[in-house]
Amino acid sequence: MTVLVAYASRHGSTVGIAERIGDVLRAADLSVEVQSVDDVRDVTGYDAFVIGSAAYMFHWLKQATNFAKRHRAVLAERPVWLFSSGPLGTDLVDKEGRDVLETSRPKEFAELQALLQPRGEQVFFGAWDADAAPIGVGERFMGLLPKAKAALPAGDFRDWDAIDAWASEIAGQLRA
Ligand SMILES: Cc1cc2nc3c(=O)[nH]c(=O)nc-3n(C[C@H](O)[C@H](O)[C@H](O)COP(=O)(O)O)c2cc1C
Repeated sequence: MTVLVAYASRHGSTVGIAERIGDVLRAADLSVEVQSVDDVRDVTGYDAFVIGSAAYMFHWLKQATNFAKRHRAVLAERPVWLFSSGPLGTDLVDKEGRDVLETSRPKEFAELQALLQPRGEQVFFGAWDADAAPIGVGERFMGLLPKAKAALPAGDFRDWDAIDAWASEIAGQLRA
C-alpha cells in the first residue's frame, strides 16, 4: 500500500502539514510519498491519496484543484482524503458565532466531494509570516493596504495535535 500525500502551497506552511501527515502514516507502517502536486505526473502507482492545499481568498490553490480534476478517474476509484490550510488566528468562532473551520472550507470542496467522493475532508489552521515577501498580485496589493494587512493575524497557528489525530484516523482506515 503506497500513499501519496500531494500538496499545493504558496509560502510553505502547507508543506509542513503534508510532511507531518506523511510522518504519521509512515509510523503506521504505510509506504508514503509526499510531493508537490506540480511534481506528480502519474498517479496510477498509488493506492490512496491525501491531497491538501493552502486556501487563499476562500479558494484552494488552482494547481491543487487542477490536479484533483486532471486525475479524477483514478482518484474516484481509490481512497482519497482532502485537507485545506487556513484560517489564521486562535479564534474558533467568528463574530457571528460561526465555526471558523467551517467558514474556511474552500469553495472547491463541494465540487470535489461530488467528483471524488473522498473518505474525509479537514480544514486546519494555517500560518502566515507578515514579513515574508508577497507572492502574487493579491498579496502585493494587500501590502499597499496597511489596514488589510494588519487585520490578518500573523503567526504559526498550525494545530499539530489535530493534524496528527486526522492522519492517525486515515492510517487506521487504510490498515483496516
Ligand atoms: C492574502 C491572504 C489571503 C488568505 N485568505 C484565506 C482564506 O480565504 N481562507 C483561509 O482559510 N485562509 C486564508 N489565508 C491564510 C492562509 O491560507 C494560510 O496562511 C496558509 O497556511 C498559507 O499556506 P502556505 O504557507 O502553504 O501558502 C490567507 C492568507 C493570506 C496571506
